[in-house]
Amino acid sequence: MAIRKIVKLGDDALRKVCKKQEKFDLRLNVLLHDMADTMYKAEGVGLAAPQVGILRRVVVIDVGDGLVELVNPEIIERSEEIQCGREGCLSLPGRQGVVTRPMRVKVRAQDRRGVPFEMEAEGFFARAVCHELDHLDGTLYIDVMERELSEEEIEGHIPEDDVEGEEDDER
Ligand code: NI
Repeated sequence: MAIRKIVKLGDDALRKVCKKQEKFDLRLNVLLHDMADTMYKAEGVGLAAPQVGILRRVVVIDVGDGLVELVNPEIIERSEEIQCGREGCLSLPGRQGVVTRPMRVKVRAQDRRGVPFEMEAEGFFARAVCHELDHLDGTLYIDVMERELSEEEIEGHIPEDDVEGEEDDER
């Protein structure tokens, strides 16, 4: 297991459409381990493979309920109900924006052995899923945000009617 370098905004890897993961081998296992280690070390709640320079459709997420590994994930259902809240990204340190996301999503993915499964995510978990899956298509939260937060707002001085929730983890 190893900590990998997280690429930052400006790196081409963040703007590519990632390829499907075809092989469920030792290399994938190592990648998933390394991505989880790297995410926890950076105190993030999610990490996508392109953020460590690997252009494959692989994501790890942990919003506090345990590690979730998603290989070749797809959102197959989005709730009409939306949520509006703050988002950051380990590839854009020190920045946050206000992003609207579905309140609930249903995801189809494969596990590290290639076994397909479906899962549902709600609230902050759904936000993390949307954010990480966007990474696999070269989309960053700054492309879809309503607006960027100022430094003062990032510190916590945000009008109540502007941002719902106190979701300030970076991912
Ligand atoms: Ni991110």
